[in-house]
Formats: sequence, C-alpha cells, structure tokens
Amino acid sequence: MSIEKIVSLCKRRGFIFQSSEIYGGYGAIYDYGPLGVELKNKISQLWWKSMTQIHENIVGLDSGILMHPKIWEASGHVDAFNDPLIDCKHCKARFKADELTDDIENTKWDTIKCAKCGTTGMLTDPRQFNLMFKTHIGPVEKDSDIAYLRPETAQGIYVNYLLVQNAMRLKIPFGIAQIGKAFRNEIIARNFIFRTREFEQMEMQYFVKPGEDDQSMIEWKEERLKFYELLGVDPKKVRLNEHGPNELAHYAKEAWDIEYEFPFGWSEIEGIHNRTDFDLLRHQEYSGKKMEIFDQQKNERFLPYIIETSAGLNRMMLSVLTDAYWEDVENNRIVMKLHPRIAPILAVVCPLIKKDGLPEIGKKILEILKPHFKVIFDQQGSIGKRYYRQDEAGTPFGITIDHQTKEDNTVTLRHRDTQIQERIEIEQLIKTINQNIEDYK
Ligand code: GAP
Repeated sequence: MSIEKIVSLCKRRGFIFQSSEIYGGYGAIYDYGPLGVELKNKISQLWWKSMTQIHENIVGLDSGILMHPKIWEASGHVDAFNDPLIDCKHCKARFKADELTDDIENTKWDTIKCAKCGTTGMLTDPRQFNLMFKTHIGPVEKDSDIAYLRPETAQGIYVNYLLVQNAMRLKIPFGIAQIGKAFRNEIIARNFIFRTREFEQMEMQYFVKPGEDDQSMIEWKEERLKFYELLGVDPKKVRLNEHGPNELAHYAKEAWDIEYEFPFGWSEIEGIHNRTDFDLLRHQEYSGKKMEIFDQQKNERFLPYIIETSAGLNRMMLSVLTDAYWEDVENNRIVMKLHPRIAPILAVVCPLIKKDGLPEIGKKILEILKPHFKVIFDQQGSIGKRYYRQDEAGTPFGITIDHQTKEDNTVTLRHRDTQIQERIEIEQLIKTINQNIEDYK
C-alpha cells in the first residue's frame, strides 16, 4: 500500500489538507480538517488520560511556546541541534549527511555517489544547519531580542518542575505531562505528516532518584508499548528499537524508539530517553538557580534523573490512519478500520427514505445519542452510498430507520467492518454501542 492512497483519502474525507493549498501549498505544514481534528483530539485525550488519570503521581502542564532564549543555550539546542547537510552540485539535490553514510566524520565526500543522480565527486562537504526557528521579541530586530519557537516541549517542564512539585506537594518519583506544538525547520521534510515543520508532541518527564533510572526506563518502555494496543494498531507493526552509541541525542544516556512499520519502512513514532540530570544541571548552571529537590526523609538535596517519553501526535495519527486503511476488494469499498474508541464519528443516523416521517424519527434518535457519542445525520443519496462514505470516514456504526421502526421502535445497527446488520430497539442503542466499543477487535 502506498502513502499516496492515505494522502488522497485524507483530503477526500476531510482528515488532512496541505497548508495554504490555494497559494500552491506551504512546505511540510498540514491543516487538520473536521475528521482530522476529531481523530487527533481523541488520540491526545487517550494519551492524556493514560498518563495523568491512570497515574496519580503524574500531573499536567501547559507552558509557553516562546521561552527565555537562554533555555535553548542551556539545553544544548543552540549549539547541538544541527543537521549536517550535503548538496549535490550536479543535480542540486540536498541530503542529510546521515542518509548517505554512517560515519560522517571520516567520509571522503568527493568519492561518494549522489543518491539521486548517481554522479560521483559532486557532493559538497557537510554544512551545519540549526533546526530551530528564530523570531524577534519587540519592535526592533536586534540580535539581543532573538527568540526561538520551541523545538520540543520538554524544556518547559524542566524549568517549571520545582514550581509544579511544590504546588502539588509531589514526592519523587513523579511525572509532568504536556501536550503542545513544537517547531523544527526540517530541511528534508517528507512522507506526508511524518516529518513536518510544525507538529505536536505529547511528552512526559518522569523524575526519579539517580540509581533508580535504569529500572524506571524498563518500566516506561513496557508501559508505552501497551498504549498502542489501546489505539488499536496491529501489534505486529509496532516494535522497540534501541539507539546505538552513535545515534544518541546530546542529552541521552540510553534511548529507545517505538517504531511503526509504515509503507516507507520502520520509523520512529515515539522516543523513550534516559536524560540523566543533564538538563537540570545545565539549567542550574545557566540560570544560577538551584534545581535540586529536597528529600525530607534523608534531609538531603539532589538533582533527579529524568526518564522521558516523547511521542509525536501527528506521527501517531499517521500510524493509526495507515493501520486502519483497508481495501475491501470483495465489496468494492475502502474502509478505515479505526478503533471505535478513537473514530472521529461514532455513528451515522440514516432514514431509509426522506418521507413517511422517517427523517423525524432519525432526528429524535440523533438527539438521544448526541450527549453520549459524536453522531451525524445523513439522508443524502442511496443508503449504500451513505454507508460507503462513512466506511471511508471510519464510522463504526450505521443506524437506519425504516418503516418497521414506526411499528415496533426498532432500527438496524450496521457494523462497518463486517457489514452485518442487527435489529435492535431504540432504547437499547446506547448500551449496545458501548458494549461494541468495549468488545471491538
Ligand atoms: N524531547 C525529546 C524529543 O523531542 P525527538 O526524538 O527529537 O525527542 C520526539 O522527538 C518525537 O517527536 C518523535 O518520536 C516524533 O514522533 C516527533 N517528531 C520529532 N520531529 C518531528 C517532525 N519534524 N515532524 C513530526 N513529528 C516529529
């Protein structure tokens, strides 16, 4: 299956649009349409619940996108958040150096073939390119007023962690979770919403005693992997992959990726990192403020170690969309087999015909269901076409009102994946739908 099929369905059904399309599009930025925003919200709410509701020692935070520029010096992003880039002088293609070699430092670039045009001897030496977007605070563009759009949400948590800990009277180990936008001036942005310049992260920073970090890392790897079962993606397409010593980010002692098998190969959706006390130590140094926590039992101060789980919401959504895409050749339809837990629309209410009082009954059913689920009403076109439209949108249930409804208060409940229809009483709808969400496989 190609990623183009997903792109096309996403546009057709209102999941995802290219940004600024009427102006020819804007590179590597996407807008989320009515179904896209519903799906994205459902995924992020599931993540939020699984972090902050299930774990009583994890609390939330929403810090600013713009922060003091010194934060990015302390974090290492001003110096170390660089991609070495290579250009081909022949065909003008641009590559990240690590796409062409595993050993950037020792590669003789004039002996390497261009991966696009195949010419040897035309590649430039690597040039460093910082991925942070710069802007200015205030009316005059002076160097001293430079601000950065955050490239990760994590730093907002580190600089607030003692305030949060004090306010919530948290005892170590504890976590702080945050969902928010991050920005990276990606040079090579590709694969639809996989790598974009504006994206959302769902990050949780877990503060532990030094020495308890390795065990915590093991626990969080397990815990995060389980989350993908809740999303309903095929477990065979999800795996953990450890970073080799050359792949580790500047802040990490140990790092694992949760990867999904996309049409373009196994790729990272989420990173789990042991950041040690690197960030807190650096903020202590750059701000001149103590970042240590006080252990009342031992009457001592120390810098906690941090285990980070950092997921990309957009990438997670792409894995969900890719996983759900099913060409039902036998029935000549495309179905998005989204788990009902995250489907943008849970049910469509369809009067079989537009007369004989059936639409009125449909509207009443809509009112009954609305407080419980995201439901829509559709009376346009043949019933078959209406069902197929909703199959592509990933709507798990179709509720049809026909003439029998007027006699015995029953409707048909159609199941998206099997197309099986069962006759049930209107007053049983909420219970039956809830049971089906629970039992969905
Ligand atoms: N705080 C750690 C951190 O930011 P990362 O591995 O650079 O670590 C974490 O990013 C996650 O953010 C990735 O696993 C990915 O899902 C998402 N992400 C990173 N860059 C992205 C981009 N350009 N477009 C979409 N998602 C991105």
